Amino acid sequence: MRLSRRTFLISSITGLASIPAYSRFLEPGWLEVTEKRVPLQGLMRRLRVLHLSDLHFSESVPLVQIERAIELGLERGPEMAFLTGDYTTRTVPDPSAYSRALRRLRDAVPAFASFGNHDGGRWAARHGGYRDHSLLRGVLEDAGIECLHNASRLVKLPGQEVLVAGVGDLWSREVDPESAFRDAPVGRPTLVLAHNPDTRFPLASFAWDLMLSGHTHGGQIVIPVVGYVPFQAVRDRRFLEGLQSWEGRLVHITRGVGNLLGVRLNCRPEVSLLDLEPARDAGS
Ligand SMILES: [Fe+2]
Repeated sequence: MRLSRRTFLISSITGLASIPAYSRFLEPGWLEVTEKRVPLQGLMRRLRVLHLSDLHFSESVPLVQIERAIELGLERGPEMAFLTGDYTTRTVPDPSAYSRALRRLRDAVPAFASFGNHDGGRWAARHGGYRDHSLLRGVLEDAGIECLHNASRLVKLPGQEVLVAGVGDLWSREVDPESAFRDAPVGRPTLVLAHNPDTRFPLASFAWDLMLSGHTHGGQIVIPVVGYVPFQAVRDRRFLEGLQSWEGRLVHITRGVGNLLGVRLNCRPEVSLLDLEPARDAGS
């Protein structure tokens, strides 16, 4: 009895002692590919899309991890790709190499992007980042990825048209839905790229079906067993990750590819594939 208790204690202490090493050296690079079914009104056929966010290319997140995330996503055959902000943390280590890595996306599928709070602007400038979006816009455009910064684009795929709108970052006070939806055709399934899921509130009166967001990193550190999240960057804990319904629409929050400060615990980085499917009418 004494021996088994000692063994248990030693195992427990060893396990606890290994958490810092695990969260620093293993989990941040341990990409998880997830697939979710998303019912969407007005869709004529099934449409698979890739949703990546919070790449955070920096000293903490090597380019090889971002390249691997792109590779894992493209392997699963999406028809479009969406990036929802935080391409770096403060400054981009190698803009040219970053563009070359991202170009793989656009070489395969139409790709669209919105900006996050780390990508330039008033929030970023206060936190050691860029004063504006010019560098990140250049990186994305050199990669052939279209930046939807308070703008929209009607994407015509075989047998399906989809409206994709993108808005600026909430914390940077750059959300301008009037511009984003101005001249946008109505009656198409509408996706909106908005870095922070709290952006759903200022967009409440506009016509969209599915919001794609990141920002939260899923909490990044989730205490095992109890599920406590010490750092929560949104108003409502339910919107930390996953597919959530809100006032008759859907919001998808991906946990992101990168991280801040090089740690993750119980919250693996995510490559999200969404299978958009025609929604059945109520009662059918
Ligand atoms: Fe982020």
